[in-house]
Amino acid sequence: MLQGKVWCLRLLPIPLLIIILAAYNSSYGVLGRYGIVSQSWNTTKMECNGKWESLNLKINKTTKLFLKLEDFFWRKYVSQQPLPYGIKGSELLLLKVLSATKSYDMPAHIESLECRTCVVVGNGFAIKNTSLGRIINNYDVVIRLNDAPVRGYEEDVGNKTTLRIFYPESASSNPRLHNEEDTLMVLVPFKPDDLRWLKEILYDEKRVRKGFWKPPPLIWLGQSSKVRVLDPYFMQQTANKLLQFPLAPKKGQNHFHPTTGLLAVFVALNYCDMVHIAGFGYPPKSDKRQPIHYYGYHTMKSMKNSPHDVSREGRALKRLEDSGAVMYLHRHL
Ligand SMILES: *[C@@H]1O[C@H](CO)[C@@H](O)[C@H](O)[C@H]1NC(C)=O
Ligand SMILES: *[C@@H]1O[C@H](CO)[C@@H](O)[C@H](O)[C@H]1NC(C)=O
Ligand SMILES: *[C@@H]1O[C@H](CO)[C@@H](O)[C@H](O)[C@H]1NC(C)=O
Ligand SMILES: *[C@@H]1O[C@H](CO)[C@@H](O)[C@H](O)[C@H]1NC(C)=O
Repeated sequence: MLQGKVWCLRLLPIPLLIIILAAYNSSYGVLGRYGIVSQSWNTTKMECNGKWESLNLKINKTTKLFLKLEDFFWRKYVSQQPLPYGIKGSELLLLKVLSATKSYDMPAHIESLECRTCVVVGNGFAIKNTSLGRIINNYDVVIRLNDAPVRGYEEDVGNKTTLRIFYPESASSNPRLHNEEDTLMVLVPFKPDDLRWLKEILYDEKRVRKGFWKPPPLIWLGQSSKVRVLDPYFMQQTANKLLQFPLAPKKGQNHFHPTTGLLAVFVALNYCDMVHIAGFGYPPKSDKRQPIHYYGYHTMKSMKNSPHDVSREGRALKRLEDSGAVMYLHRHL
């Protein structure tokens, strides 16, 4: 009797799995490449226009995400602010860096799309065991952050990477390991030293190790033609419009900067017609044990002295979600 019951329980997951797979397959066809397979199973046509105008973020639907050499040669690029919100004082470094990278655009096959679907894959623990990999791979643009790994985590995070947004301290020495041949490596310069790091690598100059809060890789095996430098306009707008940080904090006030994750969401809102996100959110501050990432063992303790305001970012994301500007691909707090 007991034996039979146990067997029933063991077998239960099998029909359940079949039902889930069937539902997944049937809806997947209809939803096509948009990859909307989460939350509700409503298959009404997704709108391909941002609904976020109401947020009044003055999102300026621009296809120009990266700094270009001609900005510095032909036109005077006037910037009132230094990095990370402007380029004041970093013009010469940029001139050298951009002369070496030579390319400044998104891939043409993405530029020409009438409706661009994008997913920003955050590094948060929440993406673990979601099996979202296949869905993520279906978007036109997959944006990943920092040195988040792909190999070994494909089931949950997928393996397509269109853009990887990073800064020197978050760079991995061999970008080929967890990216594709065509992945654009997008540097977010927080300070002039970040541009200097890139310049030293691109020109194979002597590396100066000073100026970083964590040693960046001294050898970097990325291709220079895949390197892009994000226009600081996006960092400035994320800080100012989305998070409403004071741009010039008074003495004694903390100087907060947006995380690359929130920055990536803002970039996607500018560039894409549909923005979905996964792997966002942090464990509660009181939870000392839960890892913060889907890889590795860092906990909230490692965020203690970070220049980020994660509660404020959480509220900003909630506003974006409530207004329909972004959609999560998985359940979240
Ligand atoms: C699906 O969307 C349509 C149109 O927005 C709505 O009328 C309908 O109630 C939705 N169905 C479900 C099950 O959410
Ligand atoms: C639009 O975005 C570009 C950056 O690509 C920026 O230089 C420009 O000032 C923005 N325009 C407005 C009106 O915000
Ligand atoms: C993910 O699934 C594995 C294997 O089923 C399990 O051991 C692990 O506890 C799960 N992790 C989370 C965060 O659910
Ligand atoms: C991603 O995974 C799929 C399925 O395993 C494989 O066919 C494809 O080549 C992989 N792509 C990359 C860029 O690794």
